[in-house]
Amino acid sequence: IWSNVEMGPPDAILGVTEAFKKDTNPKKMNLGVGAYRDDAGKPYVLPSVKKAEDEILKTGLDKEYAGIIGVPDFYNAAIKLALGSDSSVIKEKLNVTSQAISGTGALRVGANFFAKWYTKSKTFWLPTPSWGNHTPILKHAGLNVNSYKYYDPSTCGFDFKGAIEDIKKIPEGDVILLHACAHNPTGVDPKPEQWKELSQVIKQRKLYPYFDMAYQGFASGSTDTDAFAVRTFINDGHQIALSQSFSKNMGLYGERVGAFSIICSSAEEAERVMSQVKIIIRPLYSNPPVHGARIAAKILNTPELNAQWLKEVKGMADRIITMRQRLRDGLKKEGSSRNWQHITDQIGMFCFTGLKPDQVERLTKEFSIFLTKDGRISVAGVSSNNVDYLAHAIHQVTK
Ligand code: LMR
Repeated sequence: IWSNVEMGPPDAILGVTEAFKKDTNPKKMNLGVGAYRDDAGKPYVLPSVKKAEDEILKTGLDKEYAGIIGVPDFYNAAIKLALGSDSSVIKEKLNVTSQAISGTGALRVGANFFAKWYTKSKTFWLPTPSWGNHTPILKHAGLNVNSYKYYDPSTCGFDFKGAIEDIKKIPEGDVILLHACAHNPTGVDPKPEQWKELSQVIKQRKLYPYFDMAYQGFASGSTDTDAFAVRTFINDGHQIALSQSFSKNMGLYGERVGAFSIICSSAEEAERVMSQVKIIIRPLYSNPPVHGARIAAKILNTPELNAQWLKEVKGMADRIITMRQRLRDGLKKEGSSRNWQHITDQIGMFCFTGLKPDQVERLTKEFSIFLTKDGRISVAGVSSNNVDYLAHAIHQVTK
């Protein structure tokens, strides 16, 4: 019956983990998927998450279904985290916010909503490059995908001029996808002044800004600083859409905790939109899992736990910054004459090294260092024990 089914390629990111698991070299490193490790290279359960979980278990909650849009204490707190607790959008009930199956699920609910209800256009514009899963998520929902300039390989930085030029040419009404902070895969973000200008140009072009916010807190160590772009666009009067993930900033990867929001022009409009978001979610997965959302809600809604969590997010961000510096220093010590400044200039979980596909292949084959083909490394997977080995290996394939 299935003789027609062709063998598909492994996933560009998750396939790297599959290959890593098969390697027997004790020195192997998995720098593919963006998942935080502590300095001993171990997965990290945040102490605030453990505490929240313990408290939840003590209260003996039941396992009944959540509503279609999830756990209210969670999704109400999630949108507050993004927009700020004094947000007038929230006070005036202009936001439609539902829990989602982390960032991917939030994007997919959003994509389905736009495909069905956004009548101005069916085209989304992604930065070049963008997260590998963006295109399939949008295409599977029946949307068209196009791209605008973002990363400049000659500087390993943001191509502001190129981005503005391209955005000015996007047809009115199309949707532009923006990474709210800690751009994946490049680690290159616009500066605050550049965000302000982007907001103006996007407004003049009458585009619909859709933010993907998967790393709030991870770029700067502060959830408020990392919300700058989203809040600037809101203050400028954009009715944004927003996908949030709590995988990285709370380390809740496998719990699949996220949220999808869309901002409306009136509370009455928001009620209609919400009714249709529910109609999209119900046949997809009925309603979301409760456990991770309860943990996130507990952390976001309990002041002491919230303060502890913010310190822990900063701790993770700082460890990554230290590893960036040590990698750069290590390359210098190895005798590399290349300019590696971008390793420390870029922010968030990833470093877009500039390594070419053949160099990436050598890193994997000769050193058992696993990363995506585009040369992205998850700096979160680097630790004191293996940073020198990584510097040595990178130097060997780039000298
Ligand atoms: C990544 O880019 O590595 C993460 O966002 C994890 C994923 O699902 O791809």
